[in-house]
Amino acid sequence: MKLVIGIVRPEKANDVLEALYRAEVRGLSMSRIQGHGGETDQVETYRGTVVKMELYEKVRFEVGVSDNFVEPTVAAMAKAARTGEVGDGKIFVVPIEKVVRIRTGEENTAAVTPVL
Ligand SMILES: Nc1ncnc2c1ncn2[C@@H]1O[C@H](COP(=O)(O)OP(=O)(O)OP(=O)(O)O)[C@@H](O)[C@H]1O
Ligand SMILES: [Mg+2]
Repeated sequence: MKLVIGIVRPEKANDVLEALYRAEVRGLSMSRIQGHGGETDQVETYRGTVVKMELYEKVRFEVGVSDNFVEPTVAAMAKAARTGEVGDGKIFVVPIEKVVRIRTGEENTAAVTPVL
């Protein structure tokens, strides 16, 4: 199981949602965040010390998936979120140690896959 974290442009959030739905991904969370990527043009210095880093509005998706859903999830996010310009965002894939569906007590793969 992996947690796929996608940080995308807010204006691409709906496209990502739709792409995930089409990829049959169901459970997800999304939140508004502020972030900074690799850009350096906004950094100001004072006596050689970085004192300001501009933050940009982004949307963060978190999708917990079983192993066979990792690549479809990443591919759907990457395709839907891309404009080709700097600031398109980033996708992180991190291991999940345990998942519990609170209602049923199911754990792990049984808990992370959709209930039909
Ligand atoms: N290393 C990182 N760790 C955590 N979050 C990151 C990291 N890099 C980028 N982000 C998040 O992703 C957002 C978008 O990053 P961004 O697309 O600008 O990355 P980049 O590496 O600068 O690539 P690009 O050159 O395409 O702009 C950032 O505002 C931040 O929220
Ligand atoms: Mg950038």
